[in-house]
Amino acid sequence: MLAILLFLALHVNSGRLQQTLEQLSQYGRNPEGGVTRPGFSPADKAARDYVMRLMREAGLVVRVDPAGNIYGRREGLVGMVGREKLPVLLFGSHIDSVAKGGNFDGHVGSMGAIEVARALNENKIQTRHPLEVVIWVAEESHPFGGLFGSSAAAGLHPPGILDHKDAAGRTVAQALRDYGLDPARFGEARRNKGEIAAYLELHIEQGGILDQKQIQIGIVEGIVGIRDWTCTAEGFANHAGTTPMDQRRDALAAASRALLLVRQEVRRNPGRQVGTVGMLRVEPGAPNVIPGRVEFSLELRDLSAEVTQRIGERIFAGFREIEREENVEIACTPRVYHAPALTDMRIREAIAAAAADAGFTTLTLPSGAGHDAQSMAHLAPIGMIFVPSVAGISHSPKELSRWEDIARGAEVLYRTILRLDERF
Ligand code: HGY
Ligand code: MN
Ligand code: MN
Repeated sequence: MLAILLFLALHVNSGRLQQTLEQLSQYGRNPEGGVTRPGFSPADKAARDYVMRLMREAGLVVRVDPAGNIYGRREGLVGMVGREKLPVLLFGSHIDSVAKGGNFDGHVGSMGAIEVARALNENKIQTRHPLEVVIWVAEESHPFGGLFGSSAAAGLHPPGILDHKDAAGRTVAQALRDYGLDPARFGEARRNKGEIAAYLELHIEQGGILDQKQIQIGIVEGIVGIRDWTCTAEGFANHAGTTPMDQRRDALAAASRALLLVRQEVRRNPGRQVGTVGMLRVEPGAPNVIPGRVEFSLELRDLSAEVTQRIGERIFAGFREIEREENVEIACTPRVYHAPALTDMRIREAIAAAAADAGFTTLTLPSGAGHDAQSMAHLAPIGMIFVPSVAGISHSPKELSRWEDIARGAEVLYRTILRLDERF
């Protein structure tokens, strides 16, 4: 009964939103459930075509920028009579996924944004500001470093980005061409400060706080900064049977000590900081050969840039000691750095008021996951709305958010957009 009452009170259409999410989950679907839909992949391309069709059906004027971001525009009232147009209220998320990822990370905010556009039409709402729904390209950390599309919009990429290669050796330039885009125009993806009044993103929490506390809506206070490196341990590959233990330069033994050192240094002080080694490649990878080379990733996250800076310094000092003792060289190359981003108080207040109006419970909390919103923080005030992740599982086929929670999140997105339209 309660569920029916909830849906009656909503402006968004929960069943339709669910149907679009279920359809989106078909692209790159894995037999065990969830999806593998990396940015610039055939599955991502097919999903983009589907999403652009939905955007057009929702009356949005669709364009793809030179970085591959998809925008759907809905004109605002102000400026229709020729006066200076108001800056854009921008909201959306991403539809790419990690390998063997879930059906909700990014997808909820993307489909939720399109559902908000449909609901505005059905409720005959004409906002003052122009609205733009955005589907960011390649948000996940592969293939080109994470927050790829939103970093292009914010002008955050380093020179030479077009030559960066993914694991298969494909350059950014080639990936753009594969999407029918012209790499020479990549810089035109950049949005100007002042062009965007505010950016809002609906997303699953990806952690377990809201689910554990049975809270319906999360109001994000800030997004962690992320520093990540690609490291190599160079030893000497040799015969596993004839090389005495005291004459080895075992790259995997050294890398294993390095990985445990990361965990030790991140845990040394109390706090929310986290450190992860998520990728490890051993060469030559034969049981009867002492590993000569190991490649591994290193990632540190915290709301404070100083904390990750300090921990990184301690880790690299520890690597020097391991090098000496193991006679193995450890070298780390910085990959990306995404600065921490605090959300805007006015947007947090608007989310809280929108959720309260709808009768939903709320909790203010940080985001341990990175998001495109932290790129947008370089251009405009940002806000994020979280819905619960069951058991806090994410980046996994077991990632799950309940349909009624997703509907609540989309409803709060709808109501918050209207509040921001009045306030900004
Ligand atoms: O890695 C992250 O935090 C995000 O899910 N891309
Ligand atoms: Mn995400
Ligand atoms: Mn993710």
